[in-house]
Amino acid sequence: MLKKNVETLLNQQITKELYSAQLYLSMSAWFSSKDLDGFAKWYYVQSLEERAHAMIIYHYIIKAGGTVKLEEIEAPGNDWSGVLGILEETVKHEEYVTSLIYDIIETASREKDLKVVQFFQWFVDEQVEEEDNANKNKGRFETMGMDGKALYLLDQELGARVYTAPPLLTTLEGSAP
Ligand SMILES: [Fe+2]
Repeated sequence: MLKKNVETLLNQQITKELYSAQLYLSMSAWFSSKDLDGFAKWYYVQSLEERAHAMIIYHYIIKAGGTVKLEEIEAPGNDWSGVLGILEETVKHEEYVTSLIYDIIETASREKDLKVVQFFQWFVDEQVEEEDNANKNKGRFETMGMDGKALYLLDQELGARVYTAPPLLTTLEGSAP
């Protein structure tokens, strides 16, 4: 059985992940409005991944015998200052999400809920990826600067990103009631 305070944190994390999905979708729309279709695609895929994160936690709570409680999702911004502004915001947001994951693990450890501690290792690994991707995108944009040709190539490359559902989610959905 999930401890109440762990369950609360997990439910809050669903909302945070759904907020991340909204945030990245809003960023994707901004890139589309600037005809940076590759960046737009990358952020669109990122948005789908965030929704997948939310759904992983959703299924976990149900499996663990807890109660899912969905909450209001804060509106994301939409007046981004430019490409670099978005890339910087993404790095900051992912660092914040990592801190939330650590809080969950810390609380679950204190409550001796080792199942949650173990399950959330997946999110720890995922956050290493997320932070690395965000930093890489920002770093590459900074290096290439405002050079139009380089931006075009970066846009092309980012546009190759394809969404694949995390196998963990597919497994959880497969065994869902
Ligand atoms: Fe996430």
